[in-house]
Parts: sequence; C-alpha cells; structure tokens
Amino acid sequence: MGKLYINETKKKGFIEPEVYGHFSEHLGRGIYEGIYVGENSDIPNVNGMRMDVVEALKELRVPVLRWPGGCFADEYHWKDGIGPREGRKKMVNTHWGGVIEDNSFGTHEFMELCRQIGCKTYINGNLGSGTVQEMSEWIEYMTSDESSPMAELRKENGREEPWTVDYFGIGNESWGCGGNMTPEYYANEYRRYQTFIRNYNPEKPIKKICCGANVDDYHWTGGVLATAYDHAQWAHGFMDGLSLHYYVHPDGWERKGSATDFDEEAWYRTLHKALFMDTLITRHGKLMDQYDPEKKVGMIVDEWGTWFTCEPGTNPGFLYQQNTLRDALAAGITLNIFNKHCDRIKMANLAQMVNVLQAVILTEGGKMIKTPTYHVLHMYRHHQGARLLSSELSQVSEIGIADWRVPKVTESVSVDEEEIMTITLNNLSATEKESMEVFFAEKGYAVIEAKIVTNKDMRAYNTFEDTKNVVEAEFTDYKITNDNLLITMPPLSVIEIRISK
Ligand code: AHR
Repeated sequence: MGKLYINETKKKGFIEPEVYGHFSEHLGRGIYEGIYVGENSDIPNVNGMRMDVVEALKELRVPVLRWPGGCFADEYHWKDGIGPREGRKKMVNTHWGGVIEDNSFGTHEFMELCRQIGCKTYINGNLGSGTVQEMSEWIEYMTSDESSPMAELRKENGREEPWTVDYFGIGNESWGCGGNMTPEYYANEYRRYQTFIRNYNPEKPIKKICCGANVDDYHWTGGVLATAYDHAQWAHGFMDGLSLHYYVHPDGWERKGSATDFDEEAWYRTLHKALFMDTLITRHGKLMDQYDPEKKVGMIVDEWGTWFTCEPGTNPGFLYQQNTLRDALAAGITLNIFNKHCDRIKMANLAQMVNVLQAVILTEGGKMIKTPTYHVLHMYRHHQGARLLSSELSQVSEIGIADWRVPKVTESVSVDEEEIMTITLNNLSATEKESMEVFFAEKGYAVIEAKIVTNKDMRAYNTFEDTKNVVEAEFTDYKITNDNLLITMPPLSVIEIRISK
C-alpha cells in the first residue's frame, strides 16, 4: 500500500490561476468553427461566439487565453483584422494548411471572446516578420485612453474604452518558426521591441513574456538570459516571464503516433514523456535561478500537451486529434508537476483549446464534446489560486514496460482560502489498482467531494455519438477515519478529493 503524507500546517507557494490557462491559434478549426461561427450562423451564438463552447469554457474557469499563435503570431499583421469585416484583407495561412485566412476574427473579436469567457488576455506579438512600430501601435490601439491616433482608430471601429492586455508575448518560438534566430540575436531584439510596449494604464501594467526554449534547449535559456537579464534588473517591467514549449510525441517528432490506436508500451512511453516536464522545469529553473534567485521572472509554459498524428482523413495542417484517457493522465501528471513548481511556474497554456492538438473541446458542425482532458481540468480547477501544501509519497512502486518506467502514482495537494484541501492523484498503471493511505498533520477531516475520470479501456474516448464515455464521475472507493484517509484507486485513473474540517 502506498502512503501519502500531507502536512497541511506547511503552506508553500501560491498556485497562480493562470497555470490553468489555454491557447488558441489561427490553426485549422481551432477558432473558426470551433469558437467563432459569426453572427449569421445557425449555431447559437453571441456576437459570433458559439454559446455551447463559451458555456463549457466558463465551467472550466479558464483563467487566461493566449492568441493569435503560435507560429501564426509571427506572420500576423493586426491591422488586417480590424474594421468592417467585409473589407478586411485576406491572407494565406502558410503555416497551417495553406488556407485563406479572412481575418474575420481579429482583435475586437478576441477581446469579446475573453469578455464572454471571463478570462485574462495574453496576446502574442509579431517579432518575426513585423516591425517595432507595428507592435507598439497594436499596444496603443488596445490600451490607450488618450486621443492618440491608434486610440481614435479603435473608437472609429466601435470600441470607446481601452481593453486590458494582461500579458504580451514578444515573438513566438523565435529559435524556429518565429525567425530562426540565435539566442543572442533574439535577446537583443527582445530588448529593443519590449522598450516600445508602453504602459498606457499604469494601474494595469502589461506583463511582458520573453521567448524561451524549445524542450531541453538549455543553451537558448542561458544565452537569452545572459544577454537580456542584466538589463532586467534595473529596467522595471522589462521581463515578467520566460516561456518554455514542450509537446509529448510518443513516437518522436517525425512519426508522432496515433491518438487512439496504441498499445500498453505506448501508454507508458507517453506518460514517461509527460513526466519529463519535471526535469525541464527543474533544469531551466536552475538557469533562471542564476540570474533571478528571487524568482521575479515567471516560467511560462505557454505551449504544452500531447501531439499525435492527426485523425485519418483530416487536413494534416489542421492538427485535429482525438483525446483518450491517455490524454487525461498526461494532463493530470503535468498539472501536478506545475503545482509542485508553483514557485517558478506563473502561467501555462494547454495547446490548444478547441479542435487542435490536446483540445478540451471538439466540435463537429453544431455538435460539441468535452474531451477526457476537459474533465481533468475541470476537477483540477480547485487548485487555481490555492496554496500548495507540503505532500510526499512513499512506498510507491515504479512500473512500466522496457525503458518506459514511471511512478505508479503522482499527486499534488493545495488548500484554498476557505481551508478546503484539494488532493489530486493519478494511478498511472494500465492494469493494477493501488491502495493509498493518506496521513494528515491534524485530525478530524471530512470528505466534501470526490471525483474520478477513468474507464476500463485505456483507449476510451468521447465521440459525437457517445459523448459520455469518459467523464467526471462520483468517486466512492474511499474511507475516512479520524486518523487517515484510505483510497483505492482503480488503474488508469485521475482522482480529485476535497476535504475540510
Ligand atoms: O501549437 C502548434 C504549434 O506548435 C505552434 O504554432 C508553435 O508555436 C508550436 O511549434
């Protein structure tokens, strides 16, 4: 039997709500169809946004949304996406399927979407193919309350009040699709571009995100910080976050692997790769510590998730994939890792929100399904804005096939302002249940909620015909006494238990 020791008297860091953030790019059916259908659509909508999707996202408590890309961000020219829709300039989306982008979803529509969801805004600027002037005018357009040229243009386009831009990314993957730069070159460009991200509203300063590494490119992290960080020390607001991108491809980048047709070895390989996030955060974090020991600059994992071969018969440039119980476990593991590193991780954005990669929602015409990943994020929403608690596993075995070893259980624990504890646990075993004895520093707790996402089949997923194959269900296999909590976790499961006195 495994043991979990929780010391609820030892409150650790604060889990920023933004750690549970999302990302939507102009890619495939991620925005068009998936979120934005236009006011004239037969699909029920408010100002063009699908009501079913917005409602589901509200239930998830989406804290922040990153837009417009991704690789798309570095070829996006924001002025093409404002003004009367019929007059907006079209472009070819060269990164994603070569389709025509009609720019009908632009800045005003993004801000309207965030208003409807009730989330913060994270906009990624174009450093790769744009100019400093273009970027600084976008900021002026969105946030200036003066009678400045860009603010006047915004008003002409129907928006009197400035919006709030909470986060602004200066380039995306500048080591790759964002311009193939060296770390030193990018860092100098970052220094220049960020200078012109003005704070028109000093009450709500824009948090600036510097482009960080791809996976384990520690050379990038070290190089960017060496050139940029000395400056950050005296220029207040120079750098609020440094990003990191990490996708799990079970069969490697070239082959990726099927989302739904996989064996037990691929199950463990995928989860083993998901666990690598811990190493990445630790190692990039150590480099950041050399420059920023007080952890003022957040690590922003603004793209993470599984990336499989797209669904057969779909456009390969659209990155549409199904989502099984394996994705649920990958999400549960990753979110537990983020919680445990909340001293450094200040935001993370699952890629991507609807119809792309590890989506929480899939749509087909007027139909919508919540994926297994959705249900995990829904259970884990209670960690948002809570305090991480000291917790430690013992007597948990290592399992797996061949080189793909994983701990049988992962966990994290937090406590919210009302002193309700949230324990999230994953049983990674494809075949075996696990009994877990949970100990607390104090006595006298009661369970107030217990939920589980599981299925007997590791390949289980939801379809438009069977929408409830993998859902969040009541969990009853536990016993609480004055001394401890005994849980029996079925194989292939993500569990959330909330307790209080
Ligand atoms: O999320 C899909 C793509 O993956 C993004 O556009 C890019 O930033 C990353 O390589």
